[in-house]
Amino acid sequence: KAKVAVFVSGTGTNMAALLYASRLPGAAYEIVLVAANDADAGGLQIAATEGVATFALSHKGMSRADHDAAMEKAALDAGAQYIALAGYMRILSPGFVQRWEGRMLNIHPSLLPQYTGLDTHARAIEAGDAHGGVSVHLVTEELDAGEILGQIAVAIMPGDTPDTLAARVRLAEHQLYPRVLGDYVSRGSDPRHLLERLRALALALPQTH
Ligand code: GAR
Repeated sequence: KAKVAVFVSGTGTNMAALLYASRLPGAAYEIVLVAANDADAGGLQIAATEGVATFALSHKGMSRADHDAAMEKAALDAGAQYIALAGYMRILSPGFVQRWEGRMLNIHPSLLPQYTGLDTHARAIEAGDAHGGVSVHLVTEELDAGEILGQIAVAIMPGDTPDTLAARVRLAEHQLYPRVLGDYVSRGSDPRHLLERLRALALALPQTH
């Protein structure tokens, strides 16, 4: 099974969805660590009670580089091969992102590329959109801009507030993230995917003729 560290900052409902899905028969990944930048993050309590290793370190009074390094060390010490950001509300430093490129996923509450950043539901309602939604994507240096691995659109209902919409989007998030993460880590051992990677690598090499 692929080993995954989950980073959270808050309630951790997506972390819980990932965790319970990992306990289904045949799951492709297991969660080896839940790490947070806030010792009070609800997700930590859930993980600890469920017997999952946890790590907490406040970012306050620390440089981004030092905080990231400590989070990364915790993930590596736990044997993580992948990192799943699940409501982790900090931007990671470029070196961190580069080292985990292709192995770090994020869940974002909008139909990317629409509404990167914060207040996604309020902005979708304000714009009169028919749908909000959720995306799971690979993390790259540009915020919320990496390859999109999966999305679910969620209809905006008359009278929706950012909170009521967020609550319905959350249900979609809990379906999407475990599925996408499971499929993504399974690709690693799929020979067809290996071939794809080799082709991409060959195309990226300088042409010598
Ligand atoms: C989720 O809605 C997630 O999509 C969002 O934070 C929430 C965390 O909830 N992530 C972002 O906004 C990332 N920029 P949770 O702690 O209950 O999983």
